[in-house]
Amino acid sequence: MIPAAFVPLDQMPLTPEGEPARGTLGHPPVPAPGAGPGGQRTPTQAGMTYLWSRLLKKDQVGLDDDFFALGGNSLLAAEMLARTRVMFGIGADYVRPLTRCLLRDPTLRGFAQATQDARAGRLAADGDQGRVDFAREADLAPVRVRAHPRCPRPDWRRPLEILLTGATGFLGAHLLSELLASTSARVWCLVRARDAAHARQRIADAAARYDLGGGAGLAADGGAAGLAACGGGPGDRVVPLPGDLAAPRLGLSPGEFRELARSTDIIYHAGAIVNFIYPYEELRAANVTGTREVIRLAGLVRAIPVHYVSTTAVLAGLGVAGVREATEDTPLAHADRLRVGYVETKFVAEELLRNAGRAGLPVTIYRPMDIVGSRRTGAWSTATEMCALIRFITDTGLAPDIDLPLDFVPADTCAAAIRQISCAEGAAGRTYHLAGPGYPMLGYLVERLRRHGFEVSQVPFGIWVSELLRYAAHDPSHPMAPFLPLFVDRDQGLTTAEMYLEHVFPHYTRSNTEQALRGSGIAFPPVDDGLLDRNIGHLIATGYLTAPRDGRPRAHAR
Ligand SMILES: NC(=O)c1ccc[n+]([C@@H]2O[C@H](COP(=O)([O-])OP(=O)(O)OC[C@H]3O[C@@H](n4cnc5c(N)ncnc54)[C@H](OP(=O)(O)O)[C@@H]3O)[C@@H](O)[C@H]2O)c1
Repeated sequence: MIPAAFVPLDQMPLTPEGEPARGTLGHPPVPAPGAGPGGQRTPTQAGMTYLWSRLLKKDQVGLDDDFFALGGNSLLAAEMLARTRVMFGIGADYVRPLTRCLLRDPTLRGFAQATQDARAGRLAADGDQGRVDFAREADLAPVRVRAHPRCPRPDWRRPLEILLTGATGFLGAHLLSELLASTSARVWCLVRARDAAHARQRIADAAARYDLGGGAGLAADGGAAGLAACGGGPGDRVVPLPGDLAAPRLGLSPGEFRELARSTDIIYHAGAIVNFIYPYEELRAANVTGTREVIRLAGLVRAIPVHYVSTTAVLAGLGVAGVREATEDTPLAHADRLRVGYVETKFVAEELLRNAGRAGLPVTIYRPMDIVGSRRTGAWSTATEMCALIRFITDTGLAPDIDLPLDFVPADTCAAAIRQISCAEGAAGRTYHLAGPGYPMLGYLVERLRRHGFEVSQVPFGIWVSELLRYAAHDPSHPMAPFLPLFVDRDQGLTTAEMYLEHVFPHYTRSNTEQALRGSGIAFPPVDDGLLDRNIGHLIATGYLTAPRDGRPRAHAR
């Protein structure tokens, strides 16, 4: 039965046992059902109207209003989905199908219908998503690779012009800082923005967010004051380039695209939508077509070397298929077992690049697993699943007792390694696992959290997932709530999260990386107390983690 009216509450009151305490709700004023722009509404539509108007801070929401056009973004969508689940009593395994429905038809009418279908058990588990033909997606045609004999070859060892994607992101900001410090090139930064000034501001904001003030072309404060000059005068080395990976020609004019193809010496492609819940089709334009456009630009005039940041997660399908070890040269396989649209797009992008390599483009692929804050500051991106997990552990005092490897690599070391390898002869055509010398398991991080004063118990995985479900229902805006489907959706007995555990994920070697970095002074540090404490300390200092009550780290925490 669907209620005739909905009354939004900040939180459901709970009994001491954690069950909804319905008896304590009282009788708050009930708004009139049905009325509003678009006319009479079904109870589901009415409930959804309350939810959307509250989350999006709109007085009125029409039936044909679009969630994203009203100001919704991926974070608000995740919260809205979590709240929908609670309000309408929908199982957690419907979150992903509902997400697909929202992306396909983001109107209130369409989403209310999908919600009703989910309640009635009529929504297909895959949200009627078509199967992705990965081989076809990775076919490079009709893109071609040319190196015009009359055009000077790109000077990638001492570049004058660099193209960078993702400069407003976590790793991209560190790459920009590294490129400014280690070259004298101009760095053209493709950024989603209204205009150059906005793009410049966004680059400056990212630098400030990750405490990257001191790079050669960035102001000491990393802020707008210093970067405001970049791109505006002859000596400026950061050139903001408003564009969009998801658009034809990267959102550039034909003239800009061709000029970049003529002048660029080397490309670092770190831009991508990093979202673990969205399906392949939603991420395809930015992550796959965007990479195809980068290849097209690189191969248009003079075969510009492309350095692509992928992820070690592309190996997950191998693990599910029973492969226990993968080198940097192991051919990728089992895309159909990856189950995360984002990882699928990285898989296809890699394959596209390898095809471009066969056609003559110098391409190099880098695979980190979990990038954490820099060695200096520990300034980590709180958009990552790992930060959400830490927040959940500290908020609830419960950690899953699982063999989750912590292959943490600091963002500044990652950036320095990529730059170093990209200058080396022989990098073209190779893949590099950007990994530390070894890694501890999650229990080690739990121990460091305890040293910082957090009370944490480790409980069996199943119990922990039940607690996650209960908690997400109680607080749908928790950073961990959007990741819920990864711990719930099962295939062949494994949840998506379990695909990344030590006993399932293939062990991966890093010989190419070790060899390329030997003698450079750049090395991935061990994941030890110092590295974890710096990152935990930063999460506490910025207020992302609520400091333990006594406010003082326990003995031995540094
Ligand atoms: N962080 C990790 O632990 C990790 C681990 C393994 C691999 N990686 C890989 O490393 C790369 C960087 O990750 P990150 O953590 O730095 O992610 P991030 O902070 O989310 O940054 C992503 C960047 O890509 C840009 N981008 C997304 N869609 C775009 C579009 N349509 N047009 C132009 N730019 C677009 C973003 O721009 P906006 O600011 O406009 O959104 C942002 O600058 C990604 O390729 C990711 O797959 C990251």
